[in-house]
Amino acid sequence: MKIVSIANQKGGCGKTTTAINLSSAIARLGKKVLLIDLDPQAHATFGLGLSNAPTDKSIYNVLTDNNEKRRDIANCIISVSENLDMIPSNILLSTLEQELKDTEGAVSKLFGSIDAGKLNYEYTIIDCPPSLGFLTFNALRAAGIVIVPVDMGAFSLMGVGKLLGMIELIKVKINHSPQVRALATLYDRRLKYSETMLNEIKTFFKDQLFETIIRLNVTLRKSVAQGMSVLQFDIKSNGAHDHIALAQEVVRMEGAEEFKQALEEVAFKQEEVVLPASPRIPAIQPAAEPVDRCAIFSINAPKAKEVYVVGDFNHWKINEASRLAKLDDGSWQKKLALTPGKYRYKFVVDGEWILDSQNAEKEQNPFGSYDSVKKL
Ligand SMILES: Nc1ncnc2c1ncn2[C@@H]1O[C@H](COP(=O)(O)OP(=O)(O)OP(=O)(O)O)[C@@H](O)[C@H]1O
Ligand SMILES: [Mg+2]
Repeated sequence: MKIVSIANQKGGCGKTTTAINLSSAIARLGKKVLLIDLDPQAHATFGLGLSNAPTDKSIYNVLTDNNEKRRDIANCIISVSENLDMIPSNILLSTLEQELKDTEGAVSKLFGSIDAGKLNYEYTIIDCPPSLGFLTFNALRAAGIVIVPVDMGAFSLMGVGKLLGMIELIKVKINHSPQVRALATLYDRRLKYSETMLNEIKTFFKDQLFETIIRLNVTLRKSVAQGMSVLQFDIKSNGAHDHIALAQEVVRMEGAEEFKQALEEVAFKQEEVVLPASPRIPAIQPAAEPVDRCAIFSINAPKAKEVYVVGDFNHWKINEASRLAKLDDGSWQKKLALTPGKYRYKFVVDGEWILDSQNAEKEQNPFGSYDSVKKL
């Protein structure tokens, strides 16, 4: 099962809209989907018409330690439509952090419940609240993929820096590295500002940005008010088109073969839909026949237990491939074959992220600190 969390602490950037409609679109691809509403505001619950769900069947009841209120995850699942089920939320969820604050392993509670439930879903999609607190931390820790909706507002990227910082913290502290993908939302091509923001988002996220862009579409607002997904409300709308395209991209992240199969299924189901052209980000063309160059990363740290080099070239991932080898003289080294270009990077020495002291070239990053820069 793939767990996909939709997170961004910025309010109103399209998390719930993405969660509801991506879930519905993946379900339409024939895959079994569970949507978990992890926001005490319960917007996804309302948005899928479950506002009258029993209050004792919610994600709070799954996560609480209170024996009288706790329920098995399978007992809190409510069927929404073909292939789509949901665990609703309610305001009680806002008390959970206080309740679990002294409980060991509280940050892994959601992951543990999903894992122990042995649920039969191909995707679990989690809608996060607009904060970087306990609930979002649980969702990030559970996720294999984190989707970060980014709207076209002036402050959108500022918040994203903090969220990515939390994901980095989870990498370092828990050794869990979800794939991160940004999703451009609320794009209005009539506004020059949307274009400017989109370019900034593209520069910031590079190939971690979904090719699909979610356009501003009033049908998305109307459908949520009617308590249904945009696919049910108006399959011919731009909102439905964009979320189907997004679902295809998400499924494609799993591997080409499965994507092909899913596409065949959706082609069959979408016969009646005439899809209008949507704005797309032009694919980044690789340089013609690039020849890899050998980049040597080395650091003198005789007392260190483990050293990694993370950067643009390995999506800032700490894993075996980014581990440096210790040499006899106490220094650490890693040789990487990289295509010519400019790369930002840092060393991670026993969990601490540091600059390359042997390289004076550095650039400020969106978190306000600096990365070392190597040109090949
Ligand atoms: N692409 C879109 N076109 C038009 N309206 C949209 C679009 N995406 C979201 N909206 C509307 O913008 C508002 C905020 O969207 P949404 O609830 O999805 O954001 P959110 O990030 O979940 O907010 P919160 O942080 O409060 O949970 C809603 O009224 C929603 O219907
Ligand atoms: Mg929301």
